[in-house]
Amino acid sequence: MIHVEHLSKAFSDSKRGTRLAVDDVSFNVHAGEVFGLLGPNGAGKTTTLRMLATLLKPSSGTASLNGFEITREPEKVREQIGFLSGDMGLYGRLTPLEILDFFGKLNGMDAARRASRIQGLVTMLDMQSFTGTRTDKLSTGMKQKTAIARTMLHEPAVLILDEPTSGLDVPTARTIETAIVDAKKAGKCVLYSTHVMEEAEYLCDRIGVISGGKMKMIGTMEELRAATGKQRLREIFLDLLGLED
Ligand SMILES: Nc1ncnc2c1ncn2[C@@H]1O[C@H](COP(=O)(O)OP(=O)(O)O)[C@@H](O)[C@H]1O
Ligand SMILES: [Mg+2]
Repeated sequence: MIHVEHLSKAFSDSKRGTRLAVDDVSFNVHAGEVFGLLGPNGAGKTTTLRMLATLLKPSSGTASLNGFEITREPEKVREQIGFLSGDMGLYGRLTPLEILDFFGKLNGMDAARRASRIQGLVTMLDMQSFTGTRTDKLSTGMKQKTAIARTMLHEPAVLILDEPTSGLDVPTARTIETAIVDAKKAGKCVLYSTHVMEEAEYLCDRIGVISGGKMKMIGTMEELRAATGKQRLREIFLDLLGLED
């Protein structure tokens, strides 16, 4: 579903010169799989996800999503994905219901499908109490639920979520985790980034640990345990970063 091959991105700025934010990263994510990109701040998670979402051009390497290559067929790639970026990008003056309906129309969903899909997501994400409130009046968690619902609305084959639970309380994060599990069960391919260990351990079929733009290791929890000789993901993570717990 997602094939990433030797993807790199160099940024230049006057202070730090040219440096590789993403350095020769390769991995695959299959349908019905949740793949977690786990890394500290500045590791290159967002840069990787933005290249896959065709918002940023790679410096080298390639990737394809559902068979479409990111630089040759960006429009086709965009049709395959639901992308949740860190900044959510909601229209403050619209309500969640208006935003979802608008996005459904943009994605060519007819009125009946929009209505039933919106209803399902509002129930799943426990949004009933605020669907009619202007988004700029909502809490962070409510906004994030709205953004997640929008990302999943048109049932894209591939979900790319950049830190979907960042800054949320446990009940809200749990609701979003449930939505991710549901998408997986529906056969979607889910690639998401996080730095929350318990969540990655619970949600991910496989985890890729990224640091300094480099993919340090990829595997199931069992594979990561076997390779590092550590038990908990926190210990595995610190070990791969060359740090003691
Ligand atoms: N537009 C940009 N210009 C210059 N450097 C950038 C830009 N975007 C990201 N970076 C740098 O690339 C590195 C990786 O950033 P990012 O992908 O946002 O990491 P993460 O999402 O894992 O925290 C960081 O050193 C960051 O400062
Ligand atoms: Mg980031």
